[in-house]
Amino acid sequence: MSAEHVQINEQKQRTMGTIILDMLFNRTPDVYPAPDIMEKYDIIIFFGPIWMGLVASPIRPYLNYLKEHPQKYGFVSISGGADGSNPKLEDELKKLTGVEPITLIDLHIANLLPSNPKPSRKVTSAYCLNDKDVEALSNKITQTLEGRIE
Ligand SMILES: Cc1cc2nc3c(=O)[nH]c(=O)nc-3n(C[C@H](O)[C@H](O)[C@H](O)COP(=O)(O)O)c2cc1C
Repeated sequence: MSAEHVQINEQKQRTMGTIILDMLFNRTPDVYPAPDIMEKYDIIIFFGPIWMGLVASPIRPYLNYLKEHPQKYGFVSISGGADGSNPKLEDELKKLTGVEPITLIDLHIANLLPSNPKPSRKVTSAYCLNDKDVEALSNKITQTLEGRIE
């Protein structure tokens, strides 16, 4: 994609403990670059993991900012998927930003693995994407986005 990539960074080191605390207590971590960086773009596509059925907390400061400064945005994830789809995602994006995303793509690591036995959370967490997976998933994402971004 001819898009500029901006990496979201955190002030503090991320741990499994802080993931769980953020999601349980709805915390929003300090991140950089500051969310006003989004103002120079026409469309923002967030890419990140899903934690406990919701958008990973480091993306929240940007979604919150969009509520006050509306812009077209989408969300793309390669999440675990061991428990099936993540049905709360769309409502959360709408709640935080005030508007629907132009695209929401939630691909699952579980779908890359044999379906029998059903992949567990432990198995999806331990799985490392290989080059072929990354290429297939990237193609799927760009194909889906192409149809939705003007
Ligand atoms: C604490 C925690 C909770 C997670 N919850 C979900 C979930 O609810 N749904 C899902 O599909 N994946 C879930 N995942 C998997 C992540 O979305 C992601 O695929 C996984 O962390 C691998 O990406 P990473 O290497 O960038 O962390 C979770 C992962 C962690 C660490």
